[in-house]
Amino acid sequence: MGEGPGQGASVALPPMPATDLEQIVSLCKRRGFVYQSAEIYGGFRSTYDYGPLGSLLLRNVKEAWIRSVVQQRDDVVLIDAAVLSPPQVWEASGHLSNFSDPLVDCTECKQRFRLDKLDDPDTCPNCGATNSFTEAREFNLMFKTQAGPVEGTGADAYLRPETAQGMFTNFVQVLQTSRKKPPFGIAQVGKSFRNEITPQNWIFRTREFEQMELEFFVPPAESADWYEYWCNARLQWYADLGIPAEMLRLRAHDADELSHYSAGTADVEFQFPWGFDELEGIAQRTDYDLRQHAEHSGEKLDYFDPQTNERYVPYVIEPAAGATRTMAAFLLAAYDEDVINDEKRTVLRLHPRLAPYKVAVLPLSKKDTLTPLAHEIRALLSDRYMVDYDETQNIGKRYRRQDEIGTPLAVTVDFDSLDDGAVTVRDRDTTEQVRVPIDELVATVSDRLGF
Ligand code: GAP
Repeated sequence: MGEGPGQGASVALPPMPATDLEQIVSLCKRRGFVYQSAEIYGGFRSTYDYGPLGSLLLRNVKEAWIRSVVQQRDDVVLIDAAVLSPPQVWEASGHLSNFSDPLVDCTECKQRFRLDKLDDPDTCPNCGATNSFTEAREFNLMFKTQAGPVEGTGADAYLRPETAQGMFTNFVQVLQTSRKKPPFGIAQVGKSFRNEITPQNWIFRTREFEQMELEFFVPPAESADWYEYWCNARLQWYADLGIPAEMLRLRAHDADELSHYSAGTADVEFQFPWGFDELEGIAQRTDYDLRQHAEHSGEKLDYFDPQTNERYVPYVIEPAAGATRTMAAFLLAAYDEDVINDEKRTVLRLHPRLAPYKVAVLPLSKKDTLTPLAHEIRALLSDRYMVDYDETQNIGKRYRRQDEIGTPLAVTVDFDSLDDGAVTVRDRDTTEQVRVPIDELVATVSDRLGF
């Protein structure tokens, strides 16, 4: 509706991923995806709030991950562990002694830097002074707090810097209650916190973020095969959700990059505007964590295989992804500009599973004669899908808005609908419009979306 003769006359350009982070940041602010946190107080650095659209998109990223890693398999279960944890957990995991970055201060300009991120370890990138850095010292990235009203070491608590440890500390309970046996996995999605020295690039590196982690427990002899399996499966997940293959790569870590627990790690990397950078790490954690927690807690954290009469500590393959960071990648890859009937438009070609709204219901006019039917259609669709209802502005502007927020389908209710019981369904990507009887609408939408 409303795009004139030649409806659907979108100039077919190949998707043009945004090269400019600012385009996405500004679209996200303008349309209600991501806001600077506490902006009315001048903003809280490196902290972001997810608005009406961003919270839906982030939820869809997490649900797509759960769908692939848990729902579509019979060997992975989901948990939701506490964010607050006692020091013993982080002592055992090695985070209290190892989870740190080397810091240097410039004695000239007093700025602080991560030594391992400096292009030139002798020159200050801020003031240009040479040989002005202090000796490096290790800075632990965990946020420490206290639980309860009484201060003292007994009250120390930490905000988790990764969700992973919840899967290790609950290993035995999950094993017993879920009736699983290796190879099997425990998955978790949730917030993690790191006091990053150099938070940067919008939601790419923040102090509060969300992770989607799987700990996949396997017999040690099968570890190499499962590592390869998960590297391929995880790379494919991003491609299946619409990231072009040329914007993705798998990169094995060099020995000096490995975390303290890892015997081998590969990163899924995405081509961000500043170059290829990490979306997810797939690590071979061996039996490090279960052994550490067994030793520190005094509990047996192993598996007895009744078929072979063998007791062993499973090895772990860990695909660990960032939900908020991945959301940024999906937005960057989906961003496109094209021209319809000589008018430039911005369109987010988000995969339907990720799109915040799946369908927009747009009555052609605000008149009382149309809106009851439009609301009926909204109610019909919203039983199954997240639906946006919009009756403001002219229809062309409403289509542009839905394109810009990535809504795959728009349903327009017009005056003919009152007589012929049909509506117009418009496709975001092609802008093609077809007339569909209302009683076939849900089936048509489901067919077009693929679910
Ligand atoms: N349990 C292993 C682990 O946490 P990691 O590589 O430190 O491994 C996994 O983190 C993923 O979490 C990263 O690939 C990244 O996507 C996300 N992540 C880590 N730190 C982050 C931060 N400061 N801001 C946003 N995402 C972050």
